[in-house]
Amino acid sequence: MYNLLHFDGPFPMYWSSSYLGQLLGCAVASLAIYVAAKFSLGFPFVTTLVIYKWRRRHLSMYDNIEDFLRSNNNLMPIRYSYSDIKKMTRGFKNKLGEGGYGSVYKAKLRSGRLVAIKMLGKSETNGQDFINEVGTIGRIHHVNVVRLIGFCVDGSKRALVYDFMPNGSLEKYIFSQQGVVSLSCQKIFEIALGIARGIEYLHQGCNMQILHFDIKPHNILLDENFIPKVSDFGLAKLYPLDNSIVSLTAARGTMGYIAPELFYKNIGGISYKADVYSFGMLLMEMAGRRKNLNAGIEQSSQFSQIYFPTWVSDQLKAGKDIEIGDDATDEEKKIIKKMMMVALWCIQMKPIERPSMNKVVEMLEGEIESLQMPPRPFLYPQQIPADEVGVDNRSPCASSASESEEITLIADANEVN
Ligand SMILES: Nc1ncnc2c1ncn2[C@@H]1O[C@H](COP(=O)(O)OP(=O)(O)O)[C@@H](O)[C@H]1O
Ligand SMILES: [Mg+2]
Repeated sequence: MYNLLHFDGPFPMYWSSSYLGQLLGCAVASLAIYVAAKFSLGFPFVTTLVIYKWRRRHLSMYDNIEDFLRSNNNLMPIRYSYSDIKKMTRGFKNKLGEGGYGSVYKAKLRSGRLVAIKMLGKSETNGQDFINEVGTIGRIHHVNVVRLIGFCVDGSKRALVYDFMPNGSLEKYIFSQQGVVSLSCQKIFEIALGIARGIEYLHQGCNMQILHFDIKPHNILLDENFIPKVSDFGLAKLYPLDNSIVSLTAARGTMGYIAPELFYKNIGGISYKADVYSFGMLLMEMAGRRKNLNAGIEQSSQFSQIYFPTWVSDQLKAGKDIEIGDDATDEEKKIIKKMMMVALWCIQMKPIERPSMNKVVEMLEGEIESLQMPPRPFLYPQQIPADEVGVDNRSPCASSASESEEITLIADANEVN
């Protein structure tokens, strides 16, 4: 052993010329193999490298979702693979709805439980809306908030798995559609109260303040007993409980429901009161069973005919009844009037004048006689008498958007206040 390893000079004795020849032969052969390999394997190798690089870049967009999920291991929802999702939806056969952020399909879990799977389109916001949904409703449980059962993050494929709501979304029951059951006044009231409790829970019932920012009939789902569930947390934001004024760089919502402070300066900061406003618009539509803004008669000189809440306010002030339907009982008229009065409080232009959801629930549960008459509501700050508020009379930046259109308002909310 020692002999083999022991040598005195730079070359051991047995490095003869024939040995060097062999070595040279070996090197030439290796070079030949290398060159051959380079040409035969070079193309596939380069292609693989390009694909790898492209995938890395593409997937890195979703890295922050992965990071988020890893750091939130305590989340209750179950993680599914994309192939699970395909199986559960039977190849995306039964589409339930289509919204601004993706399509929703009916599906069945292995246990037989029915679910609705929301497939999210490719996001330009690094999956922020997806993180919002998993991060918010994944942690909370309330009878009036839709239950998130699971999710899927598989490369660029993202999905949310919810409890299936057999009665779909609320809009088809309030804006009467053919072939849809008509709900009694009492039922509509119970639904409104449920929604109010759901939002109250989001605002104050968990260890974070969850602001929804997109309360509207399409985002209220109804279970088999018409129990309402607040859903669609794509625009939701979480804040510490003590945050009263929040900052938003881009505010999104839906025309007809979006709070004015999201695009007007000087009427107040952005807070949970933005959801109160949206709820008020929804409540008024539920009570009146019509849209608040009647675009069809926009040319009319009578503004109150266009904006239903102003008309309602004037009627109530004049002590007149508001006839909704032909044969409403006195009890029903009272319920409708109460809903309208609460709604009028919620849609006050200045956030400070709107009640909290806690107060809203209290008002809805209480007697109509204990409600004070709310001030006349306005649709734009320009309508408020100049001495009441020093508003910046800009026209709303989204005024050209249609009523039901989801819009993105670039409101520099940090400047608000
Ligand atoms: N859990 C569910 N059960 C039944 N239908 C649903 C469910 N979730 C969503 N839908 C239907 O799909 C529509 C779009 O869903 P939503 O979550 O609001 O998505 P988007 O963010 O695209 O608006 C809803 O208005 C509703 O009709
Ligand atoms: Mg929606």
